[in-house]
Amino acid sequence: MSKTVRNFDATIHNEQYLQEFLRPVLTAQDMICDAGRAKESLDGVWNFQVDPFHSFLRSKWFQEKRHDAAGRKIPWDFDFDHWEEVQVPSCWNMTKEQYFYYEGAAIYTRAFTYQNKGEARVFLKVGAANYETRLFLNQHFLGYHQGGSTPFYVEVTAYLKDENRIHVVVDNSRDPSGVPMHNIDWFNYGGLYRSVELIRLPETYLQDVLVQLSVAKEDQIAVSLKVAGSNLQGAARLTIAELGVDQQIAVQDGRGEAVIQAHPTLWSPENPQLYEVSIRYGDDQITERIGFRQIKVRDGDLYLNGEKVFFKGIALHEESVQDGKAVSAAEIRENFELAKELGCNYVRLAHYPHTEKAAEIADEVGIMLWEEIPVYWAIDFANPQTAENAQNQLSEMIKRDQNRASVVIWSVGNENPDTDARLHFMQQLAATARRLDPTRLVSAACLVNHGERTIEDRLAQHLDIIGINEYYGWYVQDFDALEEILANSRTDKPVFITEFGAGALAHHHDEAAGLFSEEYQALFYRRQLEILSKVPYIKGLSPWILYDFRSLRRNNRYQRGYNRKGLLSEDKHHRKLAFYELQKFYGQK
Ligand code: GCU
Repeated sequence: MSKTVRNFDATIHNEQYLQEFLRPVLTAQDMICDAGRAKESLDGVWNFQVDPFHSFLRSKWFQEKRHDAAGRKIPWDFDFDHWEEVQVPSCWNMTKEQYFYYEGAAIYTRAFTYQNKGEARVFLKVGAANYETRLFLNQHFLGYHQGGSTPFYVEVTAYLKDENRIHVVVDNSRDPSGVPMHNIDWFNYGGLYRSVELIRLPETYLQDVLVQLSVAKEDQIAVSLKVAGSNLQGAARLTIAELGVDQQIAVQDGRGEAVIQAHPTLWSPENPQLYEVSIRYGDDQITERIGFRQIKVRDGDLYLNGEKVFFKGIALHEESVQDGKAVSAAEIRENFELAKELGCNYVRLAHYPHTEKAAEIADEVGIMLWEEIPVYWAIDFANPQTAENAQNQLSEMIKRDQNRASVVIWSVGNENPDTDARLHFMQQLAATARRLDPTRLVSAACLVNHGERTIEDRLAQHLDIIGINEYYGWYVQDFDALEEILANSRTDKPVFITEFGAGALAHHHDEAAGLFSEEYQALFYRRQLEILSKVPYIKGLSPWILYDFRSLRRNNRYQRGYNRKGLLSEDKHHRKLAFYELQKFYGQK
């Protein structure tokens, strides 16, 4: 019999405090279709407090205890309404100089009122928070989410009152078993950096809706929908007014499938045609603008709507000089306009799912997208929890953007070592992507086999497109090796050079074209493009990267905390000489 510890105080002795906040895990299975729904934003001024010792969870501040069991007042260490004020959404790194480097837990809280307007259910949605999040409402722990770039939802119907208090505990600590792991080449922003919303629903509602050009034929639209609630037998009504579609879809046990004859103008970068699609079921309705297109690989080439297409791209991080990862729609539009100015029809959204606004805007302006989960570098591939986390982030990304015409490629990773554990881990991800969405292409940014001097990665057999990152002329000075590798390699699959790049400090000029000069970066682009343009199996490029971005691994006099491989300065005010090299190349393509 263990000796009873008679002086045990949970707030200072319980090192297992996280155990009671690990379940329920909020995952892709908890997502709901929120397209075109009326949402109540909880964005705005919240109270905020960094919490490096996890006091909020250890001492259960969410219970707001100020009295003991006998009703006597006891001291408290929280002060929700008197903490500092921050805007939600935002990254705490950008709200105050003292928080720029802060990595750890922090608490966001606000009060809000709620009046029922006849709805039977209410869901809370967080657009994203980096990196793991715990939600509390009116002293109830609602759930735990892992992953810094995808939305998560939880039903709050049972907990809402007239007067409410929400607490969101966000922790951006880097984790060797996380996705991404603790070593990355981008800035580890923290915070509640995408919107927080309430969504009112009827008792039975449309939980998941997939509307796409049928994989079989271009003049058919395939619809599959999932209904949740008690009324799981019935009929949904699909309308696409501009296509003369007004169709009943039978729903059995909450599921409905249909293939409808229709002749949409197909979506493409040149003609980003979108249609308003509405689906009603009982008292519920969703509406979204959807483009119809077909992307395929055949005999080593890519075909968009039956036309062979070369992917003229550029890579992009989700970063703003002033807002960090909380990038505005205006900056996203600016980024896509810059990509179009370069002559791009394609952007690689690296290395994690960007805000859903990115794919919505790309749908409108006509840019094809590569979307990616942060299975980046040396992930803990042998760890089952890590695999579950990666699988969930992939599922959340696909569920969120499955109706976006601009998204044509799902990527399951970047620059991972070709080990047995990694192969198993990532082929499972590729299989999940195909199961959830058989209409898009699956890829990953792989590494060249430098030893054998060839493109060779065992994951390639599970991919539709082989992405290759190479830095010949930068990290490896020898351009000749690049020509040799490309000549040595044989592949019947299309290859994208998903990264090549060289650093240059904006306005740093050097006639001798020394490293980090604009002249060297331009020379590097000329040489790379000259070599790559001769390789027939290369069907796409996304050079690294549109503009300079923060990275604390980059600390020389030209970098000062920035990765300088951008074709523009970090504020996008200056186009470096290499910008015009790529623009000229794409213009001739
Ligand atoms: C790698 C990696 C990028 C990184 C880049 C660089 O390829 O994928 O995330 O920023 O190289 O070294 O600049």
